[in-house]
This record gives sequence, C-alpha cells and structure tokens, in this order.
Amino acid sequence: MKDFFELAASRRSTKQYDPNVEIPHSELRELLEVAGQAPSAWNLQQWHFLVFDKKEVQEKLLPIAYNQQQVVDASAVICILGDLEGDKNIDPVFDPSVAAGHMTPELKEILAGQIRGAYKRSDYPRDAAILNASLASMQFMLAAKAKGYDTCPIGGFNANALIEEFNVSERYLPIMLITIGKPTQEARATDRLPIESLITYAE
Ligand SMILES: Cc1cc2nc3c(=O)[nH]c(=O)nc-3n(C[C@H](O)[C@H](O)[C@H](O)COP(=O)(O)O)c2cc1C
Repeated sequence: MKDFFELAASRRSTKQYDPNVEIPHSELRELLEVAGQAPSAWNLQQWHFLVFDKKEVQEKLLPIAYNQQQVVDASAVICILGDLEGDKNIDPVFDPSVAAGHMTPELKEILAGQIRGAYKRSDYPRDAAILNASLASMQFMLAAKAKGYDTCPIGGFNANALIEEFNVSERYLPIMLITIGKPTQEARATDRLPIESLITYAE
C-alpha cells in the first residue's frame, strides 16, 4: 500500500501491457467495489461496469476502440457506463438506509422529491451520468494503482458501435473505457500546467 500522495503522483496512463497477465475476478471485483465507494449525487450511484476480460471479447472491442492495441493486451478493459435513469435507484438505495436507521422515511421522501424534479430536466440525466460515473472511474484507477496495476482511461472509442456490439441497454451511456494490467515498460512521463495558472481565489 503506497502513501496516497506518492500513488497519485505515480499513476500514469499505460498503453503497453503484458498480454499474459490475468487479473482474478475476485481482485477485479474488489477494485470495482472501491470504485463504487465514490460519491454520487443523492448517492444514486449512476454507474455500471461492463467488464471485458476474455481475449475474444477484447478482440471485438479493438476496432470499436479505433485499433488501440492496449484494449487487447490489457488484462481487462472496463467500460464505465453512466446511468441515465438514476432516479430508478431511489428505492434500492434509500430503503436499506431507512431500514438501517441511517435515514428517516421523511428524509427519503424529501430527497425523492428533489431527485424526481431533477430527472425531469432534459439535460440532467446525461450530465449526471457523465459526472458521477467519472468519479467512480477515477477512484477505480487509483485503487488499481494501489493494488499494483496500471490503467489507461480511453475516450477514443465509438460509443454507438459499442452499444450495438454488446447490446448495451438504452438506460446506459458509455462514458469511458479503462484498460488495466501490468505494464511491460514504464509509461511516458507527462507534465502538468503550473498549478498557479489553474487557481483563482474568489473575491
Ligand atoms: C477522458 C480521457 C480520454 C482519454 N482517451 C485516451 C485514448 O483514447 N487513448 C489513450 O491512449 N489515452 C487516452 N487518455 C489518456 C491521456 O492521454 C492521459 O491521461 C494524459 O495524457 C495524461 O497522462 P497521464 O495519465 O499518464 O498522466 C484519455 C484520458 C482521459 C481522461
């Protein structure tokens, strides 16, 4: 287990993976569970994880990801799907909290009213899907690094082709792919803009 600051600083987007490394389902499940501990609006957890961990399905993904070889060489690829119908999670998320005494039934009804209002707005479901699923994605990448795996977020893929090839329900929007595996070489170093240029203190 690395110190968090060292871990965040050492995460790099890896594109060269050892194709012979398999990631056990139990380990992947553990990482996805940590990803799911990310915060989300009203705790609706607007994400779903579509896992590609068989070489034959990763091969099907290759042209969809514009032939980025890393999707085949990685031990697995996760497509993080954003949930466009997060309001359907009101009961599954809140009822156990009410039963456990973490939330009163009155609070559940207040929050449910807010959620139904938000999901009636035309732009909200898509914004919420992208925003919340992205938080889970980042948490997944840091958890993977902590477990000794490298990752790469991938926006370069044809979302419509992925939906069609893998029968993704209309409920979900593909947000990004994340490759995960053991690197064969150190990822290219990257630099960041000076932090001073990215901070404004509001007056
Ligand atoms: C939304 C998003 C989309 C990206 N798409 C790709 C991609 O399609 N292919 C790729 O090799 N890297 C992709 N990257 C990785 C970036 O190039 C990388 O994060 C950036 O250059 C900084 O490098 P670092 O992550 O190693 O610090 C993507 C990153 C993000 C956040």
